[in-house]
Amino acid sequence: MDRTFVMVKPDGVQRGLVGEIVTRFEAKGFKLVAARFEKLPEARVNEHYKEHLSKPFFPAMKSYIMGGPCFLMVWEGKNVVSIVRKMIGATNPQEAAPGTVRGDFGIDIGRNVIHASDSPESAAREIGIHFKSEEVFTYTRIDESVLYEY
Ligand code: PPS
Repeated sequence: MDRTFVMVKPDGVQRGLVGEIVTRFEAKGFKLVAARFEKLPEARVNEHYKEHLSKPFFPAMKSYIMGGPCFLMVWEGKNVVSIVRKMIGATNPQEAAPGTVRGDFGIDIGRNVIHASDSPESAAREIGIHFKSEEVFTYTRIDESVLYEY
């Protein structure tokens, strides 16, 4: 089954949106298989966002991401990477559709509430950065024939 990495950023945590966000993914049918609440160390922020280290927005983004605790998760389900990306909406909340997390709860790109992996390759990389394999659980939640046709 597919997995993706999702992180409620410090603004989302401080605004009390963790429960709302978890509820959306659970209600969709996805399974939470790992979670941790933590203030990210600088080395892990640099590794996670390594493609963006030289971008002009990186210093501001780093201080925002390190400015408070984040809620890190791994979600599992069929096509979870692309579906979660649709559910969080466009990177810039001003362009994100209503009904998406960023469309409903964000305004500025530099306070866009949530991160989710953009491809299965990124998901594998990001899960590996933030979680040890023993922190990601395999368990039965429901009879999955109730959720999936095949
Ligand atoms: S780019 O330049 O197209 O590669 O950037 P993009 O893929 O849109 O965004 C990469 C991550 O950087 C965040 N971002 C910003 N953060 C703060 N301020 C500004 N101006 C800004 N622009 C982009 C963006 O939210 C992406 O992080 P994640 O965590 O994936 O949302």
